[in-house]
Amino acid sequence: MEPRQEITQTASRPATPATDLARTAAALVPPGKGILAADETVSTLTKRFDALEIASTPSSRRDYRELLLTTPGAEEFISGAILQDETIHQHGSAGTPIAVICNQLGILPGIKVDAGTTPLAGHAGEHVTEGLDRLRERLADYRRLGARFAKWRAVFAVGDTLPSAGCVAANAEALARYAVLCQEQALVPIVEPEVVMDGPHTIERCEEVTGSVLHAVFEALLEQGVCLEEMLLKPNMVVPGDDCARQADIGTVAAATLRCLRRHVPPAIPGVVFLSGGQRDVVATRHLDAINRAGGPKPWKLSFSYGRALQDAALATWRGKPEHLALAQRAFYHRARCNGLAALGAYDEHEEDAHLGETAPQVPAGWRDD
Ligand code: 13P
Repeated sequence: MEPRQEITQTASRPATPATDLARTAAALVPPGKGILAADETVSTLTKRFDALEIASTPSSRRDYRELLLTTPGAEEFISGAILQDETIHQHGSAGTPIAVICNQLGILPGIKVDAGTTPLAGHAGEHVTEGLDRLRERLADYRRLGARFAKWRAVFAVGDTLPSAGCVAANAEALARYAVLCQEQALVPIVEPEVVMDGPHTIERCEEVTGSVLHAVFEALLEQGVCLEEMLLKPNMVVPGDDCARQADIGTVAAATLRCLRRHVPPAIPGVVFLSGGQRDVVATRHLDAINRAGGPKPWKLSFSYGRALQDAALATWRGKPEHLALAQRAFYHRARCNGLAALGAYDEHEEDAHLGETAPQVPAGWRDD
């Protein structure tokens, strides 16, 4: 670790609440709203489409993203949408650029700018996120296309000896360099260090790893001079691994997640927007709701930036069929509304029964168990 003197000299530069970036960061986490992560790469979205036998073409991917963004009323609960390179260059079916459609709806357009993960040399089983080459120029281009914020995701596998110090340091450094470049180019960085759910690890191990990753990430952010008031954090919740024999109840996840954030996330951060990370959609909503209902200090807004947990029901309902569009939009509206309520700690599980009653006859059998 650097001597304290060094860190003090390079600490986050001061911000007044009135900077444009701080205002944009705050606008992404107003009460009862969160972010739609619709930034799957072409190859990831193609895999999801393939599983549902939807042809993956530029126009089908555009139609799907447009379906989500133009869902009537979704903007009541969705403050921003993270787009992907293909999407931000596309126009909607009526010829309007997608970023303009977002702005017209009051949804801030954002952009995924990392280039994905690659195996980290010398560290078996671990990955580093790439994309720093020419990032300054790419950020400037995206800003011109209308993006107001950006996202970079780092992944950390959990094991008895993972993540290694080398993996944590390499990814923390890349996240920090990305974040400071974003702020230079007038984009709010969303910093996403994801401790993944794959594996048999316990919730206690997830808490330990998430804490040390967050510690390293904030140290790197401060060293690079990132202004904390002008960014958002997108972490995982503290949950047991998928294959852990001892799963945790909703209250335990909420308590562990809050304890970890309180210990490692500075209060200067305006918002924490969780990823869903493979949690079932209703479970992700219940966790967010429990986190917001819990007592104790919560100096940041606690909301969502879900991908799968917002989209899965809508995608499985749509299946590429224009005649399913309205029903798919209702499924998306429902999840957005439930998560908006959860961001206020005001979600009621009975919401789910009412919605299923409405849509069940037209939803393919078993789609919730995909
Ligand atoms: P999930 O909510 O599906 O984990 O996606 C969030 C995200 O943006 C991953 O980078």
